[in-house]
Amino acid sequence: MKFAKALASATILAACTFGSASAADLVVGFSQIGSESGWRAAETTLTKQQAEERGIDLKFADAQQKQENQIKALRSFIAQGVNAILLAPVVATGWDEVLQEAKDAEIPVILLDRTVDASDELYMTAVTSDLVHEGNVAGKWLADTVAGKPCNIVELQGTTGSSPAIDRKKGFEQALSGHDNLKITRSQTGDFTRTKGKEVMESFLKAEDGGKNICALYAHNDDMAVGAIQAIKEAGLKPGSDILVVSIDAVPDIFQAMAAGEANATVELTPNMAGPAFDALAAFQKDGTKPPKWIQTESKLYTQADDPMKIYEAKKGLGY
Ligand code: AHR
Repeated sequence: MKFAKALASATILAACTFGSASAADLVVGFSQIGSESGWRAAETTLTKQQAEERGIDLKFADAQQKQENQIKALRSFIAQGVNAILLAPVVATGWDEVLQEAKDAEIPVILLDRTVDASDELYMTAVTSDLVHEGNVAGKWLADTVAGKPCNIVELQGTTGSSPAIDRKKGFEQALSGHDNLKITRSQTGDFTRTKGKEVMESFLKAEDGGKNICALYAHNDDMAVGAIQAIKEAGLKPGSDILVVSIDAVPDIFQAMAAGEANATVELTPNMAGPAFDALAAFQKDGTKPPKWIQTESKLYTQADDPMKIYEAKKGLGY
């Protein structure tokens, strides 16, 4: 009885939200963070492709890395009366109010690739990887690779206050616990960009005797790692051997670096978050089926042993 009632109310809610619209009539607002990395550029490309394939009218808003721009975009989507909203939240806090406004307007919000600390009553679902697990996989790879030898690690963190920066740090540190030979000696944000990754790595190298005291770099995304690899080379050291390099995203350029022996491992994050999101919307629209609160994407580890140039060729055209 409870399920039928729940289904009935969900179906009514779906009918209210979508009326008799078919996917082809859907108008969806997408508040994107910006284009700080190759991965984010690929997510934008794939989201637009997925919308086009389904005949969805996608209203795209680029927030230039600013939360206030995302909040403005969400309010504009609500005022336009869109059928649904996709949100890639730049940081984890400060969303309760605007998410409540979307809920009051009965416009479902789906989070893409990052999470918020607001109640999950305020959004339909989140399509993300297990961000803690990603950090854990990277840490475990490093622990296994150095096999007990002393290793000082420098860490390039993602955007401060963002869920991937918070969780990837937590997961990595969890993997290091019990390995007293592994120490994080420097940790600072590189804002998920190549430029900042290079800049901060230069300061790490300077502070650590030209890099002689650094055994490994852990970067929260590949773009920062690619920038750091440049800095390591300019310091006269060999990235990938003098300093091990482990990161996250699996963008094409990290596989080129792996093929050159300049990077060692990356944990893949699929840029196709919109596919599962639009599938969830379509099911909700069809019969009110509500998706689970979390739709998890896979996190696969790639190393130099995985024929990096073949993967590079396969990925390079995907809008990174
Ligand atoms: O939220 C996912 C992260 O955002 C990606 O790992 C990074 O490249 C992007 O900036």
